[in-house]
Amino acid sequence: MHPMLNIAVKAARRAGQIINRGAQDVDRLTIHNKGVNDFVSEVDHMAEKAIIEVLLEAYPNHAILAEESGISGESEFQWIIDPLDGTTNFLHGFPQYATSIALLHKGMLSHGVIYDPVRNDLFTASRGQGAFLNDRRIRVSKRVNLKDALIGTGFPFRDFTHLDAYMGMLRDMVQTTAGVRRPGSAALDLAYTAAGRFDGFWEIGLSTWDIAAGCLLVQEAGGLVSDFSGNENYLSSGNIVAGTPKIFSQLLQTLTPHLSDSLKI
Ligand code: IPD
Ligand code: CA
Ligand code: CA
Repeated sequence: MHPMLNIAVKAARRAGQIINRGAQDVDRLTIHNKGVNDFVSEVDHMAEKAIIEVLLEAYPNHAILAEESGISGESEFQWIIDPLDGTTNFLHGFPQYATSIALLHKGMLSHGVIYDPVRNDLFTASRGQGAFLNDRRIRVSKRVNLKDALIGTGFPFRDFTHLDAYMGMLRDMVQTTAGVRRPGSAALDLAYTAAGRFDGFWEIGLSTWDIAAGCLLVQEAGGLVSDFSGNENYLSSGNIVAGTPKIFSQLLQTLTPHLSDSLKI
């Protein structure tokens, strides 16, 4: 394992311990509302702090982009951190959430870790080195037809600008696939796509930290990722389509008729 990936794994496991401890008594946590339907707990903050400590101890000069504390430092290496992806699930005791850490080097995704502390599932990828679940190599599924595919997604829940477009997409998707699921952690949805548990995934308006590690996982597992126009702006627009090569193109085709101009990125 590359030393930088190793440090990211150490940081993710440290966050996992904090999350698991917090999960034992969610009702006692202090919870703040960042906006409509946007909650953050002290666990998110503590986990993020622990991750940043581990990363900066090893690499004091690296830059950070973290969900709760924002941007710091300037370097060709930037760590992108979501300490707890799936906070709403976590706060309800619904066991589907994860820590996501990725490293961008000169703007290119080079390493990614997604750690599910409930199942002790560690998903890792380094550019050109494949994707792994614990110690096993993972690959996207071999399914070729959308009608046989299980597709992951996320509903709009904070910003309803694109709700009508989304409902159109969902309507078509439930009619043309074997099933659609909304588990509630975009990072895990992408990790599951990499591991072949999902055949594809789409969502509107995610943040860079939700998807950075997951995109690398999907690509290293042999899948494809793009924005809704088939281009590479997904990390900045947060509009994302991912899947096995065959399913990916059918997903794009199904979504395209529902795109308003502002979604064509
Ligand atoms: C959220 C989860 C969810 C997705 C949201 C994200 P958070 O992240 O990934 O699945 O639908 O758009 O914001 O807020 O729990 O870190
Ligand atoms: Ca998130
Ligand atoms: Ca989060």
